[in-house]
Amino acid sequence: MFTSLLALVAILPAFVKAQSPIWGQCGGKLSLLASTMNAPYSLRHLQAKDGFLAGPTTCASGSTCTVSNPYYSQCLPSSAGGGGGGTTTVGTTTTPTTTIGTTTASAPTGSQTPDAGNPYLGHNIYLTPFYAAEVTAAAANITDATTKAKALSVAKIPTFTWFDTVAKVPDLGTYLADASAQGKSSGTPMIVQIIVYDLPDRDCAAAASNGEFSIANNGQANYFNYIDQLVAQIQKFPDVRVVAIIEPDSLANLVTNLSVQKCANAQTTYLACVTYAIQQLNKLGNVYSYLDAGHAGWLGWPANLSPAAQLFTSLYKNAGSPSFVRGLATNVANYNALQAATPDPITQGNPNYDEIHYINALGPVLSSAGFPAHFIVDQGRSGVQNIRQQWGDWCNVKGSGFGQRPTINTGFSAIDAVVWAKPGGECDGTSNSSAARFDFHCALADADQPAPEAGTWFQEFFVTLVTKANPPL
Ligand SMILES: *[C@@H]1O[C@H](CO)[C@@H](O)[C@H](O)[C@H]1NC(C)=O
Ligand SMILES: *[C@@H]1O[C@H](CO)[C@@H](O)[C@H](O)[C@H]1NC(C)=O
Ligand SMILES: *[C@@H]1O[C@H](CO)[C@@H](O)[C@H](O)[C@H]1NC(C)=O
Repeated sequence: MFTSLLALVAILPAFVKAQSPIWGQCGGKLSLLASTMNAPYSLRHLQAKDGFLAGPTTCASGSTCTVSNPYYSQCLPSSAGGGGGGTTTVGTTTTPTTTIGTTTASAPTGSQTPDAGNPYLGHNIYLTPFYAAEVTAAAANITDATTKAKALSVAKIPTFTWFDTVAKVPDLGTYLADASAQGKSSGTPMIVQIIVYDLPDRDCAAAASNGEFSIANNGQANYFNYIDQLVAQIQKFPDVRVVAIIEPDSLANLVTNLSVQKCANAQTTYLACVTYAIQQLNKLGNVYSYLDAGHAGWLGWPANLSPAAQLFTSLYKNAGSPSFVRGLATNVANYNALQAATPDPITQGNPNYDEIHYINALGPVLSSAGFPAHFIVDQGRSGVQNIRQQWGDWCNVKGSGFGQRPTINTGFSAIDAVVWAKPGGECDGTSNSSAARFDFHCALADADQPAPEAGTWFQEFFVTLVTKANPPL
């Protein structure tokens, strides 16, 4: 902790004077200072509260500082508005190296308040036995010895567990009991990572992940019961911390897809359900929630940023500003880079062509509106870029590789952790056009086929993730 603090202080003056690269931030109330996650809380607090601009205010040659809104100015290429390649070196000063599961040195003592900082600090992450078993079985089926060994190593990388049916909730009790025992024996407390994912009329703008509850058939009450059951399990293990991603896609659907009848119908119910979820989880005192916020190619389009910020902020405030809502999760189950070397051509027209640009654009607007703008970013399947035909393609993208390993050394103070939210190898959706949950995206040319039902194991896709992993396994 001390060493990195000194390192931060040492790089600070140089960073402040530097020019911002093309696409970098060059003005606004809050600049997301590149730093390690060990940055002192007081500094992060000061930034968020006072909104001073810590970053550079001039742009690299060939780009011009352009005001997007009062909170955010960006170095855009002087010639055109979007896309393009060029010498894009997005501001980084650190190389992520530390695996979350082994970072224990800077554990805060005593119980942490939600404002105290990154929930991952000082904890180890529980490895879900279900995913480890899937991976072990998959590896057993691989003949090439090198690939097999690489595949097996994935069983040691923490992922989130999706609680996508009420029937799975008792498993959480098992995991928490296990994690509690592990924490006691190692002396380092554990985190169990979960995805809360069982809204009625779920996945209202697509078909692949239709849920078990329908609004027309008592869906809201069923959902409240699902949350109550999660709460009942977590309550038994106050010594285990839970990090929860709340309802992937749902709020983003309310930002951009209200023209879809099913989404319009679901709006009130989604809001009531998500509000109930964050309020009930908040009462427990050991659950840190991140609301799902889509990804750069969805809410990161400039026209969607402000409506998205308004939705998150109003939901949060109407829920009573629950103190354990820590921020937002982005790129969940998607394929975007956190920091692309160059913009993927499919992102053309959106200056926020990767997750860090999206976060840098959205975070300050949220902070200023009083929403806690901390992020976790899924990089589980983001190892290979420039393989999609359209940015909206999300289903079993052919040629994908495992991405950056989970870490709290993210290089950005706004990002609590890089995580693996989608367990790589579990299918996004079936390519069988006769299946009830068929979604056309899963049969596109850039979708790996034949693909089984969503959530079931997709061996060939997993093997590709292993062989194309970047960094390599
Ligand atoms: C494992 O390999 C066997 C024999 O090739 C095959 O029948 C089976 O479907 C494979 N299992 C998986 C999960 O791929
Ligand atoms: C939902 O919104 C996204 C983003 O605007 C759009 O790309 C997608 O086509 C919409 N889905 C439907 C089914 O309209
Ligand atoms: C596709 O789905 C239909 C309907 O469920 C089923 O009858 C058929 O066997 C499936 N085809 C394949 C190749 O799985």
